[in-house]
Amino acid sequence: MGRLFDFMLPDNQSPLTADSTDGLFHFITEVSFILLVGITIALIYFAIKYKRKSEDDETPLITHNNTLEISWSVIPLLITLVIFGWGYSGWLNLRSVPDDAYEIHVNAFKWNWGFNYSNGAQTLNELHVPKGRPVKLVMQSRDVLHSFFVPDFRVKHDVLPNRYTYVWFQAEEAGEAQIFCTEYCGTSHSNMLAKVIIHEPDEFETWLETNGGGVSGSPVEQGEQLVSLQGCKTCHSLDGTKIIGPSFKGLFGKQETLSDGSTVTVDENYIRESILNPGAKVVQGYDNVMTPYEGRVSDDEISNIIEYLKTLK
Ligand code: CUA
Repeated sequence: MGRLFDFMLPDNQSPLTADSTDGLFHFITEVSFILLVGITIALIYFAIKYKRKSEDDETPLITHNNTLEISWSVIPLLITLVIFGWGYSGWLNLRSVPDDAYEIHVNAFKWNWGFNYSNGAQTLNELHVPKGRPVKLVMQSRDVLHSFFVPDFRVKHDVLPNRYTYVWFQAEEAGEAQIFCTEYCGTSHSNMLAKVIIHEPDEFETWLETNGGGVSGSPVEQGEQLVSLQGCKTCHSLDGTKIIGPSFKGLFGKQETLSDGSTVTVDENYIRESILNPGAKVVQGYDNVMTPYEGRVSDDEISNIIEYLKTLK
């Protein structure tokens, strides 16, 4: 059943969280539209009716009109109370996660979304969820304030450092939905995008099983997976192009000029320092925008990443 302003809303892929938001949206927009039309018509009508007709046409002195003043105070008050009650019940619904929700952990960091699943599976910028089951996202940021937003689910919440926040939804159709960051978080904020991949329930179980267990393989293979999962490729290309940071191609063994004019050879120690404390030696022509990875990667992981970088000639 189409409503007048349906065209303004994106798909509704999670009715349990979206319906009350949409209902309220339609109510506010339709009431505003009716008021706009009514006030415009009255304005034009009065302008014509009370136009000054002659030189001695004088407006009578009007002090007040109780009926009019009470009605234009009480009617808007009632409309506002309806909007408040509706909004509050919608907010309570978004705060009450169903007990059987499947939990996924979300790590936001400049400028990526990382997802950790119950069996150890990890993905970057791709959130895999089952269809027809409530999903709870427990979210935190590793650096600055971000905000998680899926328009098709009508869920949005700030993601903070040092504190967990959450959202929940239940996708009812297999397919995809877009994730945005909606808090300005630095240079590549507008590229901080991810996709929700909604699977059929049995397909999701299969996906979990095949992707569980984290990184594996030889040191070089593990390094390659880590570089993907840690979001390095958002800022460092593998083909020599300049994005936000220096390209990884041909990086190992290279002479770099730093922002203070001195030079450094890219060896194991320089890479290690640049991962843990990127601001220590910034290459000339680049900004100091990388989040320190101190506490987020282990020594073994750093060694594997270095082994992988050595292969990018
Ligand atoms: Cu993260 Cu904007």
